[in-house]
Amino acid sequence: MELLKSATCQLLSCGLLYVLWLTRLFPSEGFWSYLIIQSFVAAAFSRMAKQDIWWIPIHLLFVPSLTLMIALQIPSWIFLLSFIGLLLIYWGTFTGDVPLFLSSPEVANEVAVLLSREKSDTCLELGAGTGTIAVALAKLLPQVRIKAVERAPLPWLVALIRSRKFVNLRMCYQDLFKMNLDQHKFAFAFLSPVVMEKIGEKIRAEMPQGSLFVSSSFIIPEWEEEQVITVNDKRKTRLYCYRIK
Ligand SMILES: C[S@@+](CC[C@H](N)C(=O)[O-])C[C@H]1O[C@@H](n2cnc3c(N)ncnc32)[C@H](O)[C@@H]1O
Repeated sequence: MELLKSATCQLLSCGLLYVLWLTRLFPSEGFWSYLIIQSFVAAAFSRMAKQDIWWIPIHLLFVPSLTLMIALQIPSWIFLLSFIGLLLIYWGTFTGDVPLFLSSPEVANEVAVLLSREKSDTCLELGAGTGTIAVALAKLLPQVRIKAVERAPLPWLVALIRSRKFVNLRMCYQDLFKMNLDQHKFAFAFLSPVVMEKIGEKIRAEMPQGSLFVSSSFIIPEWEEEQVITVNDKRKTRLYCYRIK
């Protein structure tokens, strides 16, 4: 959705500039001025479309960097390769609005404490990324069987390679919304606000009563937490713990 909005902002601003150029309101040799105006107009459209503030630098730099790349005659396969690489890493953003961000080691330690407190011998991680949490838990708690699911190809591959030393860790290439959670009494996820309502419905319908679901950074709207833990890391990450009733 955001990508579609961004493309629309860029196209509209280019169209506007084209009209400006046709009407000769601007000198035709003012090429760089056109680029600067295009960037600012695209950024203004982005604000009007209520995109997050961090889109502004992207809009400001998009067409100027594209022009610079063309001027430098960088071979087109480099762009194709970079695009494919980014697609494989940020698959979640393209298909479900959940980007790849990694948790800190302190979060993993805190989840390990929760797992021990719950005396759970299994743990499910939904959206494992490159295995930051799953691998740390497998190391810290060798007696706990960990299953971690990820659907972005490259992070999954990295996590799979990292998991090979641990017999208690199973890395699965899977869409979390297409799996059943009824065998899991402890689950951890660090996803995005966009999917929290949907994940709430899923865990309520499928996780057994009394299970614990720990969500890093994002709340499930209108759910009451059993506990909120503030982790002592740089981001002061919050872990929202929900008991399934
Ligand atoms: C914010 S990252 C968290 C990574 C890791 N759990 C951590 O804490 O460091 C979220 C991850 O969830 C993955 N993801 C998003 N939607 C998913 C889905 N439907 N099924 C499986 N994984 C998903 C993304 O690809 C991304 O790697």
